[in-house]
Amino acid sequence: MNVLAPSLLGADFKNLERDIKTVEAAGAGYLHLDVMDGAFVPSISFGMPVIASLRSCTRMVFDVHMMVEEPVRYVDHVRAAGADLICIHAEACRHLDSAIAKIHETGARAGVALNPATPVSAVDLLLPVVDMVLVMSVNPGFGGQKFIPYTLDKIRELRKRIQDLGLHTDIQVDGGVTLDNVEELLKAGANIIVAGSSVFRGDPGENTRKFLEIMKGPQVTGRELL
Ligand code: DX5
Ligand code: ZN
Repeated sequence: MNVLAPSLLGADFKNLERDIKTVEAAGAGYLHLDVMDGAFVPSISFGMPVIASLRSCTRMVFDVHMMVEEPVRYVDHVRAAGADLICIHAEACRHLDSAIAKIHETGARAGVALNPATPVSAVDLLLPVVDMVLVMSVNPGFGGQKFIPYTLDKIRELRKRIQDLGLHTDIQVDGGVTLDNVEELLKAGANIIVAGSSVFRGDPGENTRKFLEIMKGPQVTGRELL
């Protein structure tokens, strides 16, 4: 299933509730929440208190992207704040396998994120246990960057590996996604589409509807991608 995940980092920070309700009403399924620690990535965004206070204003799936060193330290806290899906970076974990297990212990779904230069093979052994792989299509840390084209091949390669294993793991793409490149990303095999500035710049409701119109088109189905 294709899902749009507007990234809150692109929203108006003095009107978060308004922006969230707008994209929810327009049909977005996930809310992508970027937690940054100023160490794994250069910037600091927001953390658990903000996530917890937003939990009551929406029924959207809370998809928390942890751009944090050793995120296993925060798994319980982020789950308690309302995360449904917790995504951690392969590059940030000394013990990735046990960090994934820890996420599942809390009852949340677990994702592994890969920076642009991290090969798909980094997550190979974990494909049978993770719910989602996030392919970063910019270097993480900031919204509004340009899509890095070689990451498209990573998405194709990853979808093929997932299919070869007979799995249905979600592939999320994050960074520089626009109305102009989303179709290509879906065709490559991504099915959870993160978009920050291209949703929240201008009219978030209208932008969400435009994304969803395109996303109804090519669905990721088994043999189509072989
Ligand atoms: C970047 C974040 C993204 C960011 C995407 O490090 O992980 O989720 O909000 O923003 P856009 O869609 O503007 O590239
Ligand atoms: Zn993100």
